[in-house]
Amino acid sequence: MSLSGKVAIVSGAAQGLGRAFAERLVRAGMSVLAFDVKDDVTRIEGATGVIADVSKRDDVEKITSQAAGMGDVAVVVNNAGTWKKTPVDSGWDQALADWDFIMDTNLKGVLMLSRAAVPHLRSAGGGHIINISTYYVLPAKSDGTNQSDTDLYNASKWALNGYTDAWAKYLAKDNINVNGMCMGAVDTPMLRGLFPDNELPADLKSVVMQDADIAQQMMDIIESGRTGENFGAWVGEPISIGEQPPLHKRITG
Ligand SMILES: NC(=O)c1ccc[n+]([C@@H]2O[C@H](COP(=O)([O-])OP(=O)(O)OC[C@H]3O[C@@H](n4cnc5c(N)ncnc54)[C@H](O)[C@@H]3O)[C@@H](O)[C@H]2O)c1
Repeated sequence: MSLSGKVAIVSGAAQGLGRAFAERLVRAGMSVLAFDVKDDVTRIEGATGVIADVSKRDDVEKITSQAAGMGDVAVVVNNAGTWKKTPVDSGWDQALADWDFIMDTNLKGVLMLSRAAVPHLRSAGGGHIINISTYYVLPAKSDGTNQSDTDLYNASKWALNGYTDAWAKYLAKDNINVNGMCMGAVDTPMLRGLFPDNELPADLKSVVMQDADIAQQMMDIIESGRTGENFGAWVGEPISIGEQPPLHKRITG
């Protein structure tokens, strides 16, 4: 399916990976509706930037209606994500406030944007949903998790597997492909925010991945026509989509 002239929606596109995804889709000839809670999103060349919050249903419905008004919606990138430390022994009130803060964006936001977009993808004849996850939901190549005091962020990313798997199966009949992207460290404001003065340590600086390369991987995933997969990208390794894994037989239990 040619993407040129069709519409893409990218959440959390003011900076970092979301901005790179939006810019790459503009280069592919798409009409891109990029949105974010930050107003920098209005300054992406060639895209329509809108200030909107993916955790708010009204905002999400307005975004998808606006996108549908721009043409056939063919790509939805569920990129907006938020991160904070959530030690497992924090107080109850803090833990529940943290739950809302993380899950409203990372999980409910993905659910709402996708639900609102599916009818438009369907009526346009199909398309692609890309869920931005993280590397440690894949078979471990390291100690397997983010920092141990980030249980809610970790949980939100593992949970995306459920969406990717279920939606890929359910939406195949509508020609809608659903995939997850599971990357290690990419040089973005979120990653830099983990370090003093936003400076990456020297050992990470030399291997950290670049957002434009991850955005190219997204294009390769879309063009591959594959669905229901989590695609990895690890620091220090070439970024590619790799061979399609063998399909497993569906069993119950
Ligand atoms: N940078 C990495 O190393 C890395 C690795 C794995 C996964 N990720 C994931 O990639 C995605 C992008 O991360 P990034 O590193 O570019 O982060 P970032 O913090 O630099 O950018 C995220 C953007 O999302 C926006 N956003 C947050 N909450 C929002 C909301 N409710 N509604 C709309 N916009 C909202 C922010 O304002 C920000 O512009 C996230 O889902 C993140 O979890 C990042």
